[in-house]
Amino acid sequence: MREGAQGELEVRIVKRRARVVVLGLGHVGLPLAVEFARAGFLVTGVEIDAQRVAHLERGESYVADIPSAELEPLVRSRRLRVTVDAGTLAEADLAFICVPTPMSKSREPDLSYIWRAVETICEHLHPGMLVVLESTTYPGTTEDVVLPRLRATGLELDRDFYLAFSPERIDPGNRHYRLRDIPKLIGGASAPSAHLAALAYRQIIPTVHVVSSARVAEMAKLLENTFRAVNIALANEFALICRALGVDVWEVIEAAATKPFGFMPFSPGPGIGGACIPVNPGYLVWKSRRHGFEPRLIGVAEEINRFMPYYAVDVIAEALNARGKPVKGARLLILGVAYKRDVGDVRESPAVTILEELLRRGADVAYSDPHVERVEIGIRAFQSIPLTADALAASDGVVIVTDHSTFDYRLIVEHAPLVVDLRNATRGFGQHPNVVRL
Ligand SMILES: NC(=O)c1ccc[n+]([C@@H]2O[C@H](COP(=O)([O-])OP(=O)(O)OC[C@H]3O[C@@H](n4cnc5c(N)ncnc54)[C@H](O)[C@@H]3O)[C@@H](O)[C@H]2O)c1
Repeated sequence: MREGAQGELEVRIVKRRARVVVLGLGHVGLPLAVEFARAGFLVTGVEIDAQRVAHLERGESYVADIPSAELEPLVRSRRLRVTVDAGTLAEADLAFICVPTPMSKSREPDLSYIWRAVETICEHLHPGMLVVLESTTYPGTTEDVVLPRLRATGLELDRDFYLAFSPERIDPGNRHYRLRDIPKLIGGASAPSAHLAALAYRQIIPTVHVVSSARVAEMAKLLENTFRAVNIALANEFALICRALGVDVWEVIEAAATKPFGFMPFSPGPGIGGACIPVNPGYLVWKSRRHGFEPRLIGVAEEINRFMPYYAVDVIAEALNARGKPVKGARLLILGVAYKRDVGDVRESPAVTILEELLRRGADVAYSDPHVERVEIGIRAFQSIPLTADALAASDGVVIVTDHSTFDYRLIVEHAPLVVDLRNATRGFGQHPNVVRL
């Protein structure tokens, strides 16, 4: 253990007496707050959305990966407190920033949530505090944006406070890999900062990987998500080529995946969604351009992925056409509007684009999604309908946009007059005359 502020903070962390504050209790912040509280830390979650705070105070979780049964005892025992009042930061030893990092309308990084969170921290920054940024962002944010603002308070890095970047790598809906199962990457704004952040995360996650700087950790997170975006685009391009050639893309991918090395299967589909994969490569491209380098592959991958919902609508139109039906007036039931399986998140979901495009072409659309009660398309609001044999039979066709595991695919194939399957969810039924696959 070291002398002075760093040594004291080390002791507080190891003895689990450090007071933890998490700013932003969404898909990322809530699991992190829960994990620290489960490890015995006193945790306060600061959330600007009063409705979210009210839910959490009742022990009700709105994040699918955190069951209310897990949350409620932590809230009841006051191990985890939730508040809209950031004043609690005055007592904090560890502050984690887990706020959104979307794209602006002109598709530029929108760091406004980070700025606001950092401003709030600055009001309460005090000696002996470690600040960790978890939000995904472009390389340089921690050292060039956050650090100067913290220093402007008059406090100094390593003498008074510590600063690190540690990207969140959770995969919502993935029951196999939860927060504690995924090695944590850490890059410090200084060596003592990295050391303290690693010590803190080790209390809740068995494996941590420390890199030489915050910039490397920021870049590594962008590589992970860009890797996914580019490989999904490749799978999508293969789907387009296979359709032109009359080859089953799903069988091709399954065959290639039998190679035990050098290949990792990715699936084609109606497009990408969520807060990360469609957004993060844009952060990288923006930053790269500002440094005079124009990335090419990433931009092409983005274009392919963005084209997929429109392509999916063409596949739907062709399937209807083959049955003598125009899109205009066709009664279509969309199955799944969340951006991916078993989550309730519609941010950037390709289903929204598909619905918009089908409505624009005059289709009569409804949807069913056990995870999403209501969705707004322009000025219209849609309510999820129950998935019944009657609803399926009453449609001209159903479109599997999101392959939730709770959908009864046998019921769907048996009762719908036409199934356009954009996810290969009906693979178990072989070549069925009513099923058209991507
Ligand atoms: N969702 C994912 O799967 C995932 C995975 C890895 C990384 N990330 C990244 O993590 C970050 C957070 O994403 P998320 O999905 O948790 O977002 P989210 O929208 O689910 O949650 C963010 C929360 O922060 C709150 N908030 C905003 N500003 C605040 C402030 N100043 N003080 C307190 N609360 C504030 C919002 O009200 C919201 O509840 C983003 O950078 C995202 O790219 C997300």
